[in-house]
Amino acid sequence: MITYGFSEYGDASVLQAYQLPIPLPKKHQVQIKVAYFPVNPYDVALRQGKFDPTSLTQTIYLGSDLVGQITALGPEVTALSLGDWVIAHRPNRANSEYVIAGASKTVKLPSGLAPDVAACLPTPGIAAYNAWFHFAQIPPKATVAIIGIAGAVGGLLAQIAKQAGNPVIGVANQRHQQTAQQLGVAEFLAYDQLPTAPTWRHQATVVFNTGMGGQDHGLAAELVAPDGQLLRFNGAPEQVSDPSVQLIDVGYRRDLTDGDALHFWTDYCQRQPLFLQVAQTLPATLTGLRQAHQLTAQRHQGKYVLAWDWATKATPLT
Ligand SMILES: NC(=O)c1ccc[n+]([C@@H]2O[C@H](COP(=O)([O-])OP(=O)(O)OC[C@H]3O[C@@H](n4cnc5c(N)ncnc54)[C@H](OP(=O)(O)O)[C@@H]3O)[C@@H](O)[C@H]2O)c1
Repeated sequence: MITYGFSEYGDASVLQAYQLPIPLPKKHQVQIKVAYFPVNPYDVALRQGKFDPTSLTQTIYLGSDLVGQITALGPEVTALSLGDWVIAHRPNRANSEYVIAGASKTVKLPSGLAPDVAACLPTPGIAAYNAWFHFAQIPPKATVAIIGIAGAVGGLLAQIAKQAGNPVIGVANQRHQQTAQQLGVAEFLAYDQLPTAPTWRHQATVVFNTGMGGQDHGLAAELVAPDGQLLRFNGAPEQVSDPSVQLIDVGYRRDLTDGDALHFWTDYCQRQPLFLQVAQTLPATLTGLRQAHQLTAQRHQGKYVLAWDWATKATPLT
């Protein structure tokens, strides 16, 4: 089978197709024939070598998120069946024709959710869920600010906030005003056209900075209220001089499970439409992947999704 990855850091041209054996599921795993996988900002940063200043000594196989159809079951798997269309989260190698995935990190594709859209859910959905329910402490009715409201993590956080009844100050480029309104924000703040009267300063009890690469346009510290919380998704340095503000890094925590987060979102989708944007679906060829990486590195709205050839001809049995 084909798996995409890279053996040296660099621009999108370092991406290569590798031939690997189709993996077989162990006891608690399923084998999935991948239909769709997205490119996340993390994949681009990883390929650019942003997490590792040294040179690469082994091939990195890319990808965390996917949607596909179950083609084999480990002997202990009971909650999923052959032929199920599923959403899965993996530590790597999702950019493959086949993957194995832990059954606990694999959920059935809910009816009404398009498979290419669903493929974009795992990484941002898990981050948004964990940030809201496990990293932040959000008092009822408290105002929250979301920087990057038109992004995947930002939009998903806005949908949780709406459900919880917390008013949102949504921050984004001016051109995303309509998206912010669709998400039901109480106030929209365009970082490139700030109002002259700064009535929004220090109004948010909790600020989520979900801008790509941690870009906050200097607004996170301006928005957060004294004794408030500022959540970062990129570990980027924030300039916050107020010592009463708590800086919280959203990342891996051993006590949190992907399954809880994925089930939250599939339950959510049963009750209301999910707002998650696909910028474009491209063929899962090496050319398509390189293009999706280039487009993700540029200013974008929505995820670039890759579709294996068979996927566009198949209909999910949801
Ligand atoms: N810690 C974790 O567990 C975790 C998990 C998921 C994501 N993340 C990180 O969180 C951030 C947001 O992820 P996401 O998937 O929501 O990202 P995204 O949807 O791709 O982008 C978020 C926002 O960043 C701005 N943006 C887009 N392209 C850009 C570019 N080329 N340069 C600068 N800004 C750009 C856009 O806002 P405007 O147009 O309004 O500027 C966009 O709405 C990423 O940096 C990602 O790596 C962390």
